[in-house]
Amino acid sequence: MNRREFLKISGMGAFTLFLSGCGLAAIGGDKKNAASAAPEKGSVSGGKNMKIVVINSSPHSDSESTSKYLSSRFTEGAKSAGHDVFVFDAAKEETHPCSGCDKCGMDGPCVWNDAIEQKLMPKMLEADLLVLVTPLYYYGMSAQLKTIVDRFYSRTGKLHNKKSIIIATAYNSADWTMEALSAHYNTLVRYMEWQDAGQVWGIGCGSRSLVERSEFGDMAQKIGANL
Ligand SMILES: Cc1cc2nc3c(=O)[nH]c(=O)nc-3n(C[C@H](O)[C@H](O)[C@H](O)COP(=O)(O)O)c2cc1C
Repeated sequence: MNRREFLKISGMGAFTLFLSGCGLAAIGGDKKNAASAAPEKGSVSGGKNMKIVVINSSPHSDSESTSKYLSSRFTEGAKSAGHDVFVFDAAKEETHPCSGCDKCGMDGPCVWNDAIEQKLMPKMLEADLLVLVTPLYYYGMSAQLKTIVDRFYSRTGKLHNKKSIIIATAYNSADWTMEALSAHYNTLVRYMEWQDAGQVWGIGCGSRSLVERSEFGDMAQKIGANL
């Protein structure tokens, strides 16, 4: 494969040239910074007993992390609605970045037989909904989450057509704080052919006390409960 081209593979194994034709401008100016966007109940049809995979990526402990606080509130809501939730804590697991060897041929398995391959990938492949959870690091996702996103490469086609949610926290509260991460997430949703099922942009949440006092916990729980 020409590594300058990013190819996407369909579930049938057909390759399609993608990025060269991608209309990046179309996702550029949508939301300067949305605090959150939670679809109304019923607007994202997940059905009952959805299989949900939550991917946490903060290196902070469960009791200190602001993003894990919001993801736990989401999980509480989703479980109350009867859904099955599997939580993967990327910072606590042995993971490796994609080495770009292309031995997977974008259709697996990956040469890294680590926690992503053994524990997370089987759950992601059967999941209805993936929840990406990250602290904002230099206006993007954490390296821990990006490591996992890059490993989607080994099963790109098989991970299409899922629902997705993003939950992020940041210290800053300026209206542009989440702009770059939001653009990245929206592009990922488009490329992976996912259906966005909610976004929680926790600005001004640089500590546990700040996030617990914010409106974002209730927002995350409501998104989970309304699925
Ligand atoms: C390496 C690093 C980079 C960060 N970059 C940003 C940033 O670009 N913008 C921002 O508002 N906060 C930034 N922060 C602050 C975190 O996003 C914030 O403290 C967040 O609440 C941490 O979430 P967590 O407790 O779940 O890890 C950064 C923190 C670290 C450690």
